Amino acid sequence: MKKTLFLLMFLSLNAHATPFADGDAKRGGELFEKYDCNSCHRNKLGGDGSAIFTRADRTVRSADDLIVQMQRCSGAIGKQLTAQEKQDLAAWLNQRYYHFK
Ligand code: HEC
Repeated sequence: MKKTLFLLMFLSLNAHATPFADGDAKRGGELFEKYDCNSCHRNKLGGDGSAIFTRADRTVRSADDLIVQMQRCSGAIGKQLTAQEKQDLAAWLNQRYYHFK
């Protein structure tokens, strides 16, 4: 039991040290294209849509927010992202726009 607790603590600390460490950013970029993620963002903000990630009032404030928001977005188009796809997409978005540590 003690060991399990320790392991859980270690894992959560570790997750915060490097968010999306299991994600492959390159693959994330490919998934972003595949799912045409910016399709709605484009309609909302114009340009190529990626201004949604840099707008002053952006809603994603943490690594956890990012996962939750992607779930909402993919749900809206009836896509079920796998856990790995979420990690990959988040790694890519984090590398390009969010820079959460
Ligand atoms: C059905 C339309 C739609 C699709 C498709 C969509 N999004 Fe979104 N997305 C939105 C809307 C609308 C918002 C803004 C929500 C708000 O303002 O609160 C948003 C916001 C976001 C944000 C937060 C930006 C911020 O404010 O920091 C992220 C991250 C995001 N989307 C990721 C994705 C990813 C990844 C995909 C592809 C898997 C995707 N979205 C596909 C509609 C969509």
